[in-house]
Amino acid sequence: LSAGPLNGKHIIVTSGPTHEPIDPVRYIANRSSGAQGGALAAALRDLGAQVSFVTGPASVPPPAGVKVIAIQDAREMLTAVTSALPADAAVFAAAVADWRVKNTSDQKMKKQNGALPTLEFEENPDILATISRHAKRPPLVVGFAAETETVVEHAQAKRLRKGCDWIVANDVSPETGIMGGSENAVHLITEGAVEDWPRMPKDEVARHLAQRIAEALEAKP
Ligand code: C5P
Repeated sequence: LSAGPLNGKHIIVTSGPTHEPIDPVRYIANRSSGAQGGALAAALRDLGAQVSFVTGPASVPPPAGVKVIAIQDAREMLTAVTSALPADAAVFAAAVADWRVKNTSDQKMKKQNGALPTLEFEENPDILATISRHAKRPPLVVGFAAETETVVEHAQAKRLRKGCDWIVANDVSPETGIMGGSENAVHLITEGAVEDWPRMPKDEVARHLAQRIAEALEAKP
């Protein structure tokens, strides 16, 4: 057995998109590939962590050597994360749908002579915010923020609003090529500091972040 800095630590990672059902065959989704979440789970595993990987229907396969908990929608993701507690840390890299369809249909919806269906929405639970204020809150909670303007200011406000310890923020404006690309340029926002990390491959971002998580957990009891 190799002695990694995260040996004996349990870390929850959420990843991928969610699929919110409309009827038994249709859903609403987003373009998250699950690449950054998967890379992060692999990097934490490589440092010795026991990883619970709660993933929506991602387009990249989950890494080997982690406990994969596959879910479809936001409410299932919240249940899965809550059931995986307690944990030493939790990292929320999933792109959770903000809304779900309220008037889902038990049967496949049919065309009705040109009459158009209307979807009503209701808000999904915010998993990051819920776990940040949970009685069994992990000692380290990390969220992500994808922004297109005033990235750092928005992410600092998000850190306080969500109640997490760190926010990993990036600029996803189309001209950056980050969304769907293999590289990322992030800012690590902590209680007292903002770090601007250079642009690097997403797996390298994952390795640096895993290293920082290991250092933070060593500093905490
Ligand atoms: O508010 P926003 O979606 O920009 O926040 C992004 C962060 O919150 C990410 O870490 C994401 O995984 C998490 N989140 C969540 N549950 C939601 C929405 C976002 O855990 N319903």
